[in-house]
Amino acid sequence: MVVMDMQNLLSCSVLCCFLLFILSGRQQTVQGHRHLPSNIRPLKLFVFGDSYADTGNTNKSLVPWKHPYGISFPGNPTGRFSDGLVLTDYVAKFLGLNSPIPYEGWKSSSRGIPLLQYGLNFAYGGTGVFDTVVSGPNMTVQIDFLEHLLRDNVLTTKDLESSVSFVSLAGNDHFTYLRTNGSAQGLKPFITTVINQLAINLKRIHGLGVKKIAVTGLEPWGSCLIPYVTNTSLFQQCNDTYNSMVSFHNPLLKQAVEKLNSETKDSPFFIIDLYASFTSALKNEGSIKFENPPLKPCCLGVSSKYFCGNVDENGAKKYTICENPKSAFFWDVAHPSQEGWRAVYSALQPTLEQYFHY
Ligand SMILES: *[C@@H]1O[C@H](CO)[C@@H](O)[C@H](O)[C@H]1NC(C)=O
Ligand SMILES: *[C@@H]1O[C@H](CO)[C@@H](O)[C@H](O)[C@H]1NC(C)=O
Ligand SMILES: *[C@@H]1O[C@H](CO)[C@@H](O)[C@H](O)[C@H]1NC(C)=O
Ligand SMILES: *[C@@H]1O[C@H](CO)[C@@H](O)[C@H](O)[C@H]1NC(C)=O
Ligand SMILES: *[C@@H]1O[C@H](CO)[C@@H](O)[C@H](O)[C@H]1NC(C)=O
Repeated sequence: MVVMDMQNLLSCSVLCCFLLFILSGRQQTVQGHRHLPSNIRPLKLFVFGDSYADTGNTNKSLVPWKHPYGISFPGNPTGRFSDGLVLTDYVAKFLGLNSPIPYEGWKSSSRGIPLLQYGLNFAYGGTGVFDTVVSGPNMTVQIDFLEHLLRDNVLTTKDLESSVSFVSLAGNDHFTYLRTNGSAQGLKPFITTVINQLAINLKRIHGLGVKKIAVTGLEPWGSCLIPYVTNTSLFQQCNDTYNSMVSFHNPLLKQAVEKLNSETKDSPFFIIDLYASFTSALKNEGSIKFENPPLKPCCLGVSSKYFCGNVDENGAKKYTICENPKSAFFWDVAHPSQEGWRAVYSALQPTLEQYFHY
């Protein structure tokens, strides 16, 4: 049943959007005070990865460009997989920057250098370090985009030296593997190749001059916490495959990051612990509380054939939205709501402060 659900999800365009993501072409500011003193504030943020980070690069035919995405903020879809803001916006806020413009938006604009004031977002929802079931540039190609801008003197090494990078890898490689190969025995060796490739990518970003690089660990896909892998009616199914996937991935990532840090001056690499922060938010441990059942997404397809944002051939809505998006940690079956991300950010803040205060 879970497998069926997974395959339906994967074969549908929404899934496609799964951890995918695009652009509004305009800056969006998160309300709130800035955290870093200006003397240590980075000047730009460069973002790579998937839908947890994408703010508008995803193909405009996909659901984050459709109602009801963006319904809480800014009121219309911006290509974010959320009713409002996503993790990148909160990371930018922490750094005292506006959320950087999405690369696709920059490309289709006048390509002005002033638009790069806060950096650039190269993350595309649905992608991974390898090619996934969703089309979109893998992380290697995303880093190529940055390299080309350096080559073309749109950005300079000096820009990068005063910058930080945020890299999101939430599991699209893993789900693609499960979908296309599926052998449980092959999963661990596959995860090892994912981590190795991720380490190559992180090292490459640092090699381009970026001084600090934060990368996400896997969120608790395996601990029955993510509705995507649970029965969308019950929201409490567990699956050992996902459990073992996450508990294998995260320690391996930690080892890889420790090794990279030991080989590099100033320990530039840092893990954003989505496992602990999602868990804490979902247990309602912080000051932001969610209604029960915490796994029930706000926006849901009316049957397993449909997902948030889907309409039928007559344009009739095939999804329902909860009354108050702020009451739900999850916006759709794979992505936190704006309020969900706010709770995650709140749980992450102490470690972000440690990492960024030299
Ligand atoms: C868990 O998910 C995997 C991968 O989709 C599947 O092969 C397995 O049968 C599932 N296990 C259970 C108990 O549903
Ligand atoms: C976006 O998706 C549409 C429909 O699947 C496709 O025709 C188009 O080529 C895609 N655009 C890009 C830039 O990939
Ligand atoms: C990333 O995509 C490019 C272009 O499609 C491809 O040549 C390359 O092999 C991919 N890299 C990885 C690590 O999968
Ligand atoms: C899937 O399995 C085939 C055959 O065992 C193997 O050749 C291939 O490399 C696997 N793909 C991945 C992504 O692991
Ligand atoms: C999933 O939920 C539906 C509807 O509540 C139920 O009929 C079905 O048995 C559930 N599947 C599993 C595997 O529990």
